[in-house]
Amino acid sequence: MVKISVIGAGAVGTSVAQWLLVKGGIDELVLVDIVEGLAKGKALDLAQSLPLWGSNIKIDGSEDFSLIKDSDVVVITAGRPRTPGMKREELLSINTEIVKSCAEKVKEFAPNSIVIVVSNPLDAMVYVAYKVTGFEKNRVIGMAGVLDSARYRYFIAEALNVSPKDVQALVMGSHGDLMIPLVRLANVAGIPLTELLEKDKIEKIVERTRYGGGEIVSYLKKGSAFITPGFSVAEMVESIIKDEKRVLTCSVLLEGEFGISGVFLGVPVILGRNGVEKVLEFTLEPEEKKALLNCAKHCEELISQIKL
Ligand code: NAI
Ligand code: 2OP
Repeated sequence: MVKISVIGAGAVGTSVAQWLLVKGGIDELVLVDIVEGLAKGKALDLAQSLPLWGSNIKIDGSEDFSLIKDSDVVVITAGRPRTPGMKREELLSINTEIVKSCAEKVKEFAPNSIVIVVSNPLDAMVYVAYKVTGFEKNRVIGMAGVLDSARYRYFIAEALNVSPKDVQALVMGSHGDLMIPLVRLANVAGIPLTELLEKDKIEKIVERTRYGGGEIVSYLKKGSAFITPGFSVAEMVESIIKDEKRVLTCSVLLEGEFGISGVFLGVPVILGRNGVEKVLEFTLEPEEKKALLNCAKHCEELISQIKL
């Protein structure tokens, strides 16, 4: 029996649940939110799609956190989203309180689960969940790299008019303006991007990727992206529960990898039944290393402001 719980039945939480239902491979799906009736209503709406989709998952929603009991994976999407002009970092204090309270519940009701954190500012919120749950580092994982890399890959595909499926590219570092869309390793079916697209066009794509979340906020005005964020989480959950060993960029605690310790940053990892099974470390060019150290410094600064 595979049970997944999603805390926060807002835009991202609902999208996670919907994509998980579509992907399958789970037996029970739970939504929890502090707003009375919200999770229950979303769960009911999702459950009514089961006859059409031809699935038989048990779906429930509640304000009662004990519903997450014995989950294999708990996804924390609870928290405020950005509004136009706002940086993710401005959510630090409010979302620290929210993620802290959710992590306490995870520790109480699902002590053996793997936790995926989505709330922003992402790398700092994963740290909060790690500290509060006290779980081993392989069981506390942040989602951002899958989303940022998907945005990068899409923009490349769009510029070259090729199938997005054939674009491979990696965004490392923090989930914010300092993120590092790696140009050197981006490729289309193995052909280096630098051979296919002019430098100035690549630079524009890199810049657009860095501000990809903000671009969507500027259109939506009342909230941030949720469709691809939800899909990105579902990819991670799928790799964990099916033990697929996918190589996905996730925010994980670094302890010496890439010469960095004590902060959560997006790096490529192998995701399997035990959560983070391995960080895939590789040699960075001096400029890339400098950029990653910059992300580490930024995450350290955010963490230093957190009082738990
Ligand atoms: P939303 O406002 O639609 O949903 C958030 C939900 O959290 C609300 O339903 C709210 O009632 C609930 N909530 C608040 N406090 C709670 C608590 N203590 N316990 C349970 N539920 C609680 O926001 P949305 O768009 O779903 O975004 C959620 C978070 O995810 C935001 O912080 C946003 O910035 C972040 N995000 C992160 C991404 C990433 O790449 N890591 C991508 C997209 C969003
Ligand atoms: C995003 O990148 C808001 O972090 C969220 O869309």
